Amino acid sequence: MQTAIYPGSFDPVTLGHQDIIRRSSEIFDRVIVGVLRNRAKSPLFSVEERVKMLEDVTADLPNVEIQSFNGLLIDFVRQNGARVIVRGLRAITDFEYELQLAQMNRVIAPEIDTLFLTTNLKYAYLSSSTAKEVAMYGGDTSAFLDPMVARKTREKYLSLGSGEIDKE
Ligand code: PNS
Repeated sequence: MQTAIYPGSFDPVTLGHQDIIRRSSEIFDRVIVGVLRNRAKSPLFSVEERVKMLEDVTADLPNVEIQSFNGLLIDFVRQNGARVIVRGLRAITDFEYELQLAQMNRVIAPEIDTLFLTTNLKYAYLSSSTAKEVAMYGGDTSAFLDPMVARKTREKYLSLGSGEIDKE
């Protein structure tokens, strides 16, 4: 059985991420989406909230599961008996960082490969950060986020007291 790990921050999951998850699930027997418990960044959503949103948007994909992880990605990959890491490549600007990440991981764990899927052109411009910025200012994020994720993102900003300021 071929298991792949699709790691990321997913703060929050976008339609671009969902597209990569669905396509990976068609290639591999099992896909584990690894949500980083990222101490360095300060995410908008807690890891539990990010995991729950991912579970909801992948509920129709029986071979996809969501887990959170701490520490090195390579350790998480090994713990799950996987040999492949999946990453999405949107544009050439992603390439340098992704190449560095893949090569670092390959030096640490030569038995594990990184497989890049090119992002669907529809979502090539899209990132969690830009979607969040639109949500923060009360804009329409329906082209970027699942409706449930869009609602939760808007609610999160409202609960934090952001989002109304720039409408005044
Ligand atoms: O969605 P992101 O934030 O671009 O995902 C980055 C991620 C989670 C893939 C990367 O930060 C990661 O693998 N972090 C775990 C720590 C690690 O293994 N670092 C060593 C490679 S530089």
